[in-house]
Formats: sequence, C-alpha cells, structure tokens
Amino acid sequence: MNASENTNRKVPRHVAIIMDGNGRWAQARGLDRSEGHVEGVNTVRRITEAASEAGVDFLTLYAFSTENWNRPKEEVDALMHLIGIAIERETPDLIKNNVRLTMIGDVERMPIEALERLRGCIAKTSHCTGLNLNLALSYSARWEIADAARRIAIDAAAGKIDPSVVDEATVEKYLSTSSIPDPDLLIRTGGDMRVSNFLLWQIAYAELYMTPVFWPDFTKADFMEALTQFGNRERRFGLTGEQVRGS
Ligand code: IPE
Ligand code: IPE
Ligand code: MG
Repeated sequence: MNASENTNRKVPRHVAIIMDGNGRWAQARGLDRSEGHVEGVNTVRRITEAASEAGVDFLTLYAFSTENWNRPKEEVDALMHLIGIAIERETPDLIKNNVRLTMIGDVERMPIEALERLRGCIAKTSHCTGLNLNLALSYSARWEIADAARRIAIDAAAGKIDPSVVDEATVEKYLSTSSIPDPDLLIRTGGDMRVSNFLLWQIAYAELYMTPVFWPDFTKADFMEALTQFGNRERRFGLTGEQVRGS
C-alpha cells in the first residue's frame, strides 16, 4: 500500500521492530549469546500483547536477517531451534488472543522443523482477526526487492504484464508485504542507528524510533513511550505543515 494512504493517526496502524541487542544483553551478564535470544522470546510475547492492547493492526518483527546466516553455526542452529520451539509453545495463546501469524523472507532456507512449525501456526491462526503478527525470517530488503524484480521480469516475458506500465504500484504488488500497509513506526532497540536491510522500500515515510534498551529489557512501557512519541509527531509526506493541518 502507498504512503499517501497513511494519515496522521495517533496510534500507528503498522509497527515494525528491529529486535536488536540480545547478544550484548547476554554477554553483559556473562551468559552465552543464545541466552539472550531465549530471553528475547519473552519480549516478543510481551510486545505482541502490548501492540494488541494499544490497537496496532500489524506488528512486523525482524527476527532473522539474510546476513544473520553468516553468524557462527552454533548460534544459527540455536536460533532456528528456539524459533521452532517458541512458535509451537505460543500457538495456543496466539489463537486465544486472536493474533494471526504471517511471515516474510526467504524462508525456504530455514530448517524444515522450524519451517513446518511456523506453517502450522500460520494455518492454525489464519482465522484470527485481531493483530497481524508478521515475522521477518531469513529476510532482507534487498533480497525482497531483487526477488520482486525477477518475478516482474518473468511475468513481463510471459506477456502477463506490460513492461512499459511497471510503476510503484506494480512493484508493491510483488513485494512480500503487498497485503499490508507500510509501517508507520519503525523501532530499533539495542542502540544502533541503522536499518540493517529491513523493509527499505516500505519505510520510505516511517517515523523512526531508536532506543538504547536491549531487546530482552524492552518493556510494555518502553513500547508505549515509542507510541506516545509517534503520536506527537507531524507526518508531512512531502507536504507543508499547513497543508497537512488543513489550515
Ligand atoms: C538481535 O540480537 C537478534 C538477531 C539478530 C537474531 P543480536 O543477536 O544481534 O544481539 P547483539 O546486537 O549482538 O547484541
Ligand atoms: C538486525 O540486527 C537483524 C535482526 C534484528 C534480526 P543485526 O544485529 O543483524 O544488525 P547489524 O549487524 O548490527 O547491522
Ligand atoms: Mg545485533
């Protein structure tokens, strides 16, 4: 969906989060990095609840990037195992809380055990009408945009679309987020001021909120603070303040 469809809503319709800082949280306690990921799952549960309660419609969580595959094998294996276990364990509560799970990314690269559990949870929550929890797994924005370009080229070569009319709306249709609005608010925990290949197309007009708090320490109150700051900002989408305020 297009940025211009967004309005100055006080509650963001779509919040995207770069959940960073698990490893440093663990290392600061003399623990293994994977302990930070375990604790990070608790934050996912907490913030999913908080987003539901606040009236957010879409919550996209960056759980594993394309580049994260290059981490030490033990950490990748531990993370994949954890994702599978956590999804299995959380599915009943997701259903109870009317949360629908979806995922974006090059998920075929994931181990089959984790992937099957994710697909099971997606099927079991497909009837849910509350929050859409969207997990970005094996995801990178450059992968997504290149994948869209490839599929557009294939469809053009097959005569399904006219190459001369490919425009922004066409590209959006081929992105993995085609059925959901662009993020209104992008949160990054862990203190770094970068977007690390996350939703590069979709965050064109997102409000950015970076916090030094490590993801395992990120509370509902921290999330609500981000929403409050979002509510106090004026989004202009390239217009003048007067135009936006209708004065
Ligand atoms: C974010 O925490 C989770 C993933 C990338 C999977 P990190 O593991 O990147 O934690 P830091 O940034 O090293 O502290
Ligand atoms: C971004 O965190 C990816 C996820 C949160 C899944 P990283 O820890 O991978 O990002 P960089 O390496 O610090 O940019
Ligand atoms: Mg990190």
